Amino acid sequence: MNRFIFSALSLFFCLSIINHSQAETVWDKIQENYAGALDITVYHSPSCGCCKDWISHLEKHDFSITNIEIDDMSSIKRKYNLPTQVASCHTAIIDDYIIEGHVPADDIKRLLKQRPEIRGLSVPQMPIGTPGMEMGSQKDPFVVVSFDDEGNVLPFNQYWDY
Ligand code: CU
Ligand code: CU
Repeated sequence: MNRFIFSALSLFFCLSIINHSQAETVWDKIQENYAGALDITVYHSPSCGCCKDWISHLEKHDFSITNIEIDDMSSIKRKYNLPTQVASCHTAIIDDYIIEGHVPADDIKRLLKQRPEIRGLSVPQMPIGTPGMEMGSQKDPFVVVSFDDEGNVLPFNQYWDY
């Protein structure tokens, strides 16, 4: 995906959900317990509302956030060699894993417990209904994928009904 198309898509998706409600959501219920440190660095565009909502989701699940606002998100995705097919809006780093897009907090905790030999997790693009992308009762089915440096993209978790 080239830089312009990526920026335009991010802007479109972020603007399109600016008016969504902040009511309590299904994602507020904590299920996974993880006793280790939850220090995560999140890179996102300053204009991205859904990124900020995802950060709020992580904060509700006891993550401690280093928030880095950056206009040129494509430079971050290049720096971390993110496979283009898993790209979304924000890019986050925790314990050397990449977390791309609206990945639920529980999946990040499960990743840290299991410590698989992967590069990171992603929810590609921005499905409606994911944490930070809530729009009332619309909940698109989505898959959390893992990816590695060899280009393998595999399902890590799936949400068909939530
Ligand atoms: Cu987003
Ligand atoms: Cu985002």
